[in-house]
Parts: sequence; structure tokens; C-alpha cells
Amino acid sequence: MRTQVGIVGAGPAGLLLSHLLHLQGIESAIIEVRARQYIEERVRAGVLEQGTVALLNQTGLGERMTREGLIHRGIAIRFAGHSHRLDFDDLTGGKAITVYGQHEVVKDLIAARLAAGGQIVFEATRVSVHDLNGSRPRIRYEDEKRTPCELACDFIAGCDGSHGICRPSIPDGVLSIYQRDYPFAWLGILAESIPLSEELIYTHHERGFALFSMRAPAITRLYLQCAPAENLAEWPDDRIWAELHARLDEEKGGQRLAEGPILRKGITGMRSLVVEPMRHGRLFLAGDAAHIVPATGAKGLNLAVADVQVLAHALTAYYKTGDTDSLDRYSDICLRRVWKVQRFSWWMTSLLHRFAGQSAYDQRIQRADLEYLVHSRAAAQSLAENYVGLPLE
Ligand code: FAD
Ligand code: PHB
Repeated sequence: MRTQVGIVGAGPAGLLLSHLLHLQGIESAIIEVRARQYIEERVRAGVLEQGTVALLNQTGLGERMTREGLIHRGIAIRFAGHSHRLDFDDLTGGKAITVYGQHEVVKDLIAARLAAGGQIVFEATRVSVHDLNGSRPRIRYEDEKRTPCELACDFIAGCDGSHGICRPSIPDGVLSIYQRDYPFAWLGILAESIPLSEELIYTHHERGFALFSMRAPAITRLYLQCAPAENLAEWPDDRIWAELHARLDEEKGGQRLAEGPILRKGITGMRSLVVEPMRHGRLFLAGDAAHIVPATGAKGLNLAVADVQVLAHALTAYYKTGDTDSLDRYSDICLRRVWKVQRFSWWMTSLLHRFAGQSAYDQRIQRADLEYLVHSRAAAQSLAENYVGLPLE
């Protein structure tokens, strides 16, 4: 088999890249290890930057998002028993974010690709990439019937997330890897309960960070800071609700979090990672395959979208004019923005979590940072500008 761009991974990065290329008349095929149902139900991100929403709308993917997505014009930061609203509308000159589940974006993308005759191989096994430095790189895999297949391509896009095979296929010594692990994780639940608030609440509490988010008017998404190797079996529903109440409820007589059936539970590690460059020969890395951010800034999905926007543009320039200049600049263009988003995600994480062994001095500095954020327009504006999404250069 042959295609122009072979894509490894049907997450948001791979699917959106395939869609953007199709709109420019460029052929692609996606090879994915998981089943369609699995990736359409995997609960992950929920916050879309203004630019992500604009791109989905401009490329014909916005119909259901416009109907079902929730537009938020601010968030609350809560500490020392008080909530402080950051008004994005005012702070950014009218920008907003949209709460719409990542798996809903994935469903919309899969539907659009299949309706346009796009090729997605689900449940592939033994996926590997070859001849990355030659003019005809290849993807080998076994299809769902275990038949060995080979896809010859002009280029390969490695969109296979943080545990994929593309990044490790690049020879040792080529990539520089920058990383930081955080000494905590998040325990996340999806629950059928009435939201505590109409907007997200990021809480710094002496028992640890907590986040109130949502997916729909009666579906709440909640997170608790927990130990990195936390055992979910030790978190029965009662313990989760008790801990959420302790961190999120307002003091005496104030608003209390509503409980409801827990639909999903999971633990998410907190990690920062960047590889440079995001390219080796004819293999281009995009999304979580190239960089990971802790979830505090809600940036992972949005970064993946920004990468493939740059990559689709560069591949289009190549196919239209034969010019490789944009492809050569792909990594540098993405990395400039990636590092700014890394900084923001690291800062939000450092600001809001409790760190074991944190000195009294460090705790006072963290508190001063929070006070400064909610009392200085300049500080609030900096958070807002990053949260709604930095521009693509
Ligand atoms: P992925 O979504 O990981 O997709 C990679 C795909 O490749 C997967 O389908 C995988 O099955 C497939 N694959 C893996 N290995 C192979 C292989 N060998 N061969 C073929 N296919 C393979 N980001 C935000 O922007 N906002 C948020 O609010 C947010 N919240 C989050 C909350 C949680 C709990 C988690 C876990 C993440 C969150 N993120 C958030 C991050 C976001 O989900 C990721 O950054 C995003 O999924 C990255 O997209 P991707 O397409 O690069 O990778
Ligand atoms: C979510 O709704 O899943 C979510 C929201 C904000 C974050 C992370 C996750 O920072």
C-alpha cells in the first residue's frame, strides 16, 4: 500500500492532521493500535482554547461542539477559604474557552474522516516505522486479522502519544530530552451530579490541590491531588467524596459539592517532557509523542492541535510548490510555542499543589504568588492570556 502521509496514532493529533491534509487534497492513512470504541470513550481533556475552537469551526468540525460545548468566560482560583474569579472576557478582550470532552472531538474527527473516505486502521498490532532517512519511509503493522501489512509513504507523522513507538524509533543520541517529574498525581472522577459552579474552580488547599470541572450540565469532572503511585482500590467512592468535600466545600453554611453516581475513576501522572528536535529525517513528531505537560494548565490537547496545524501547513507548502523550507522550520516553529506552554503548565502546577517537605518559606512564597495573581490585574491578565491560548506565530 502507498499513501502520501502515513500517520501513526488516531488521537486528536493524528486524526486532525489527516483531516487538515484531506482539505488540501493530500492523501493520508492512520494506523491505530486501539479499537474505535475504546478511543471514542477514553475520558481525557476537556478544555479547548479559543484558537482550537476556531480551527475546528473553520474546518467543518464544529457543528456538535457549537451545540453541546459550554463556553466559559472565566475560572475561579480558590485558596484560604475564598474564591476569586478571573474574568477572561475582561482580561483578554473578549476571549473564552470551551468545555467539550476530548473524546467528543475524537468522535467528530473519526466521523468526518470516515465520511470523506479516509483510511483508519484500528486494532493494528506490531506497528513499526522504517527507512526514516530515505525518500520512502514505511510503516509496518499487522491488521486486525494479523495479516502483515506495509505502508510506503512520503512522510510519517508520529502522533502516537507519550507511550508510542515513533519517538523510541529515532536512534539514540539524535534527540535531546528535557523532563521533570512531579511528586504527585491526580485522581480523577466523572460523576452524574449537579455542578458546584458554572465555571471551573482550581483550589489550593492544605490537604492538596482539587479541581472542579464538568462535561455537561449534569456531568461533573473532579480531580484530587494524590500520591504518584496511588492505588485506586484504596479509594472507594465514600473516601473520594469525603476528600472532595474537605477541599472544595465552602466554609460553614456555604456551597457544598453535590454527590452522585461515579461513572469513571482514574489516576493521571504529572510530568513535563519536551524532545528536540521534533523531527528525524522524514518522521515528524506531533502532540504527546513530542511533549507532555502536567494537566493543570489544560494544555496537552491544545498543543497537539497547534503542532498539526503547523505540520499540515508545511506539508501543503511542500506538495503545492516542492518547497521544503516550511518542513525544515516545523520543529523550531512548534518548539517556540511549546516551551511557553511548558512554562505556563509548570507554573500553574507549582502554584496550586502542595509539595511534600515544602519549607515554611516556600509555602509563604506560594501564598504570595496566589495573592498577587488575584489582586494584580497584570498577573491575572498573564494567566488569562495563556489559559485562553497563546497565538500561533
Ligand atoms: P493521544 O491522545 O495519546 O493519541 C495517541 C494515539 O496513538 C492513541 O489513540 C494511542 O492508542 C495510539 N498509539 C499509541 N501507540 C501506538 C502505536 N504503537 N501504534 C499506533 N498507534 C498507537 N489536555 C488539554 O488540552 N486540556 C485538558 O483539559 C486536559 N486534561 C487532561 C486530563 C487527563 C486526565 C489526561 C490524561 C490528559 C489531559 N490532557 C488535557 C492531555 C491530552 O489528553 C493529551 O495531551 C492529548 O490526548 C494528546 O493528543 P495526541 O493525539 O498527541 O495523543
Ligand atoms: C478537565 O475538565 O478534564 C480538565 C479541566 C482543566 C484542567 C484539566 C482537566 O486543567
